Amino acid sequence: MADPQRRPLARLPLNDALAHAAKVAQARVGFALSGLSGDVPAAMLYAVSGGKALRAFLALETARLHHINPVAAAGAAAAIECLHAYSLVHDDMPCMDNDDLRRGQPTVHRKWDEATAVLAGDGLQALAFELLVQAECSPRAKMNLVMSFAHAAGVRGMVGGQAADIAAESADVPLDLDQITALQAGKTGALISWSALVGPRMAEEEREPLSHYGRALGLAFQIADDVLDVTGDAAVVGKAVGKDQAAGKATFVSLLGLDGAKSRAAELVDEACDALSPYGDDAETLKEAARFVIARTH
Ligand code: IPE
Ligand code: IPE
Ligand code: MG
Ligand code: MG
Ligand code: MG
Repeated sequence: MADPQRRPLARLPLNDALAHAAKVAQARVGFALSGLSGDVPAAMLYAVSGGKALRAFLALETARLHHINPVAAAGAAAAIECLHAYSLVHDDMPCMDNDDLRRGQPTVHRKWDEATAVLAGDGLQALAFELLVQAECSPRAKMNLVMSFAHAAGVRGMVGGQAADIAAESADVPLDLDQITALQAGKTGALISWSALVGPRMAEEEREPLSHYGRALGLAFQIADDVLDVTGDAAVVGKAVGKDQAAGKATFVSLLGLDGAKSRAAELVDEACDALSPYGDDAETLKEAARFVIARTH
């Protein structure tokens, strides 16, 4: 619940805030899995390790902006990292993108096997909901968090976007700009948008500025991912590059070319930063995150 005294909570620079978010998410997942042995829990922990923790950061940072105590928001931050990790474990499997490398390490199905990867993904999805329920807010706010989380994860969100992404590989007619935008808003945008709304949802406050920010950021994020697939170095990106075109993926790069995609991403970052104006200087780390999303090399 919002701090009644509305004391501003200290703002960290982006790198520190990302590192902190990663630690918070890891700690919650580690605790939830403690005492378990066997391949599936080990693979779950492995899958949530080593990422940028951008989504956990967005959850914690927007909570901070809405004067939510960081401990109260920790469950939401851990939940979104579990859901994201599950989406990556399944995305990398041979039936989807067939990748061997993730975050500079073997993918889960390569380190263990496909059955372990399916089950680790399933386990992470269930654990995500368990952790989300640990968010400390009013029952009404929690119901809203859980409902919107299920929606973002599902067939109208990430799963729907992933299905469109796979279908586009074998489509007879290439997707147009609106269709690619809708695909990316689902596969990547839904989880990023949800993360950016944790603060206003927990505090039961106005959502529009962060809703706008999250939509623009999510799209910019996926465009940058598609650009990195063309321009990135696998050793730095931590995953295989140069695969999207070969697989016939529908991306902004496939439609607008590299320069067109980069300039669209830059416009979206400006739009995301402008949307934060009601928060004034307190939103500086979120602006830094928006700039990072397109400047990143991994
Ligand atoms: C990669 O997401 C998958 C996409 C949605 C494009 P991230 O780039 O956030 O992956 P990690 O978590 O930092 O590895
Ligand atoms: C993955 O998109 C999005 C989700 C896992 C939901 P990509 O397939 O482009 O992600 P990378 O490039 O493998 O990280
Ligand atoms: Mg994919
Ligand atoms: Mg992939
Ligand atoms: Mg990609």
